[in-house]
Amino acid sequence: MPYTRKDDKRYQEELKKKIIELKKKKNAVILVHNYQRPGVQDIADFLGDSLALAQAALNSKAKIIILCGVYFMAEIAKILNPEKKVLLPVKEAGCPASDMITVRELQARKKEIPDAGVVCYVNSSAATKAESDVCCTSANAIEVVRSLPNKRILFVPDKNLGLYVKSQVEDKQIITWRGVCPTHVRVSLEEVLEAKKRYPDAQLLAHPECEPKVLKEASFIGGTGGMVKYIKNSGTKRFIIGTEQGLIYRLKKENPDKEFYSPSNHFICADMKLTTLGWVAHSLELGLNEIKVPEDIRVKAKKSLDKMLKITYGK
Ligand code: 13P
Repeated sequence: MPYTRKDDKRYQEELKKKIIELKKKKNAVILVHNYQRPGVQDIADFLGDSLALAQAALNSKAKIIILCGVYFMAEIAKILNPEKKVLLPVKEAGCPASDMITVRELQARKKEIPDAGVVCYVNSSAATKAESDVCCTSANAIEVVRSLPNKRILFVPDKNLGLYVKSQVEDKQIITWRGVCPTHVRVSLEEVLEAKKRYPDAQLLAHPECEPKVLKEASFIGGTGGMVKYIKNSGTKRFIIGTEQGLIYRLKKENPDKEFYSPSNHFICADMKLTTLGWVAHSLELGLNEIKVPEDIRVKAKKSLDKMLKITYGK
């Protein structure tokens, strides 16, 4: 019998069952980013931020990694696991910030400041990573920048994360790039102030990809993994979540006694929302959208990632 809208819940449950069966049959692991749709979060073997996903990809014993997130995340899984098949359910799921730098531009800038250490945010292409000394995520950017011997640091491509690091690391000169996350910069100071007025007893948590004037209003600044930890350990009951709304599903599930609000109804990453259970099942069943990285770029990009993982995890 064909499905109608009324049957959607049943259809979603059947898809989940199908994915679990396929996953077992094919020896696959499902890694899911914190911004994904609720149904996709529900089928995760591992749910986390960019750093945790990279680590989970590295630790996985499965033959196939299906990465529910955006392109650069699946690319990282492939860079770290060249022998494994890495699938991205929807190949169009990109990251606009990662496209705001080209290798040619980066090479030209490096020539102008040859003494600078180059730190690249993981929201970047494999080619950009290959041209950088070390990668970082929002969870370890300050630690990574501090670990470099260089006095000057070129931080690419996310300007707001670079400016936040600059505010925290006073003994280095941080040179930022022009990239921004269109989702995080869309949230205005006015919206954040309005939310704080509406929920006066709530704490504002903000992702460092937000604009500096928004960050100034926050009780806590950190990536999605940092927010999960902060909330778990906090005695506060109400929070305004200054990042993509997908995280709120996980926060509600893990903290049923706490309340979460988004400062804006447009805090949504369209690329992250492209992945649905239907696409996960389709990609897993047919082995579609396999990630490939040219070997010379992969090897160089891996060095930048390995260095980051060593700084963070000590191995
Ligand atoms: P996190 O690493 O904090 O999850 O952020 C990922 C991201 O892409 C933010 O836009």
